[in-house]
Amino acid sequence: MQPDKVKIVEVGPRDGLQNEKALVPTEIKVALIDQLTDAGFTNIEAASFVSPKWVPQMADGAEVMARIRRRPGTLYSALTPNIKGLDAALAAGADEVVIFGAASEAFSQKNINCSIAESMARFEPVAAAAKERGIRLRASVSCSLGCPYQGDVPVGAVVDLVRRMRELGCDEIDIADTIGVGTPDKVQEVMRAASTEFPLERLSGHFHDTYGHALSNVRASLEVGIRIFHSSVAGLGGCPYAKGATGNVATEALLRMMQSLGVETGIDAGKVAQIGEFISRAVGNRGARSTLSANQAS
Ligand code: HMG
Ligand code: MG
Repeated sequence: MQPDKVKIVEVGPRDGLQNEKALVPTEIKVALIDQLTDAGFTNIEAASFVSPKWVPQMADGAEVMARIRRRPGTLYSALTPNIKGLDAALAAGADEVVIFGAASEAFSQKNINCSIAESMARFEPVAAAAKERGIRLRASVSCSLGCPYQGDVPVGAVVDLVRRMRELGCDEIDIADTIGVGTPDKVQEVMRAASTEFPLERLSGHFHDTYGHALSNVRASLEVGIRIFHSSVAGLGGCPYAKGATGNVATEALLRMMQSLGVETGIDAGKVAQIGEFISRAVGNRGARSTLSANQAS
């Protein structure tokens, strides 16, 4: 079941940079997003309106959103854990807001300081307000393939959260492998199960590459009909509240794989390689990643 085309959501400016130890200057974030826009992405996760005490790296979201150059046809998304986040995202002109829950109770507590049930109660008004204003609503389901605190996560818990997110009116739902423990068979099982509650073509694969399985998991997802994938330029990323979580699958590697399969992405791989070089230099100490970009520039 190979598609002609997939959508790639570039999450580097948010998932990628949120985990950097040293604060990344606003102008670097703006330059990164502008270059990604020029490379042809139609969806860029640009900011996160969360507590600056929890994630200081994302504290300048409003300024980033105000300064980026927007291309018509590209959605600039922002994470919104609660109404305060939603209000800030709307004021900043986000085209899509992202509520983020977890299929694991332990991770929900660590990441957003509340139970899964409490998180759904917080998401309800966020979703309602987004729908009322006609803003696209996406949901992320963390720990869909395993949890750094609880270990195994039952597939039923993922399906349950997907159903609840659908009931809130989500337009797209991300099946997130937060700590990269998924393997192709398990990924297919989870994707198939999730698709009993939400249309397969609006589910996405958000794979961190901690153990080097992310590309195999993309391939496995393609086989069951997933058509939307998240990636980070230069493989940046991780979650500050998931110990040991490393970056998302590198956009460079994902593009190369899609090219080898003859699947269209609409993205200029050469420009992405240069962007990988740029951000690797800008955040420092990323020799391996800049090599990855350089190797894939051809
Ligand atoms: P809390 O402490 O329970 O919230 O945090 P609170 O409502 O009691 O508020 C505490 C303080 O935070 C107050 O300020 C609020 O005003 C402020 P104070 O009175 O102490 O000065 N606050 C906010 N400030 C700005 N924007 C907001 C906001 N909300 C409250 N939206 C909260 C709850 C959810 C806010 C907190 O736990 C938090 O910000 N967590 C975010 C964690 C995070 O961003 N994690 C990374 C993103 S998720 C991820 O990476 C996974 C993903 O990639 C998928 C995957 O790979 O799994 C998406
Ligand atoms: Mg992530």
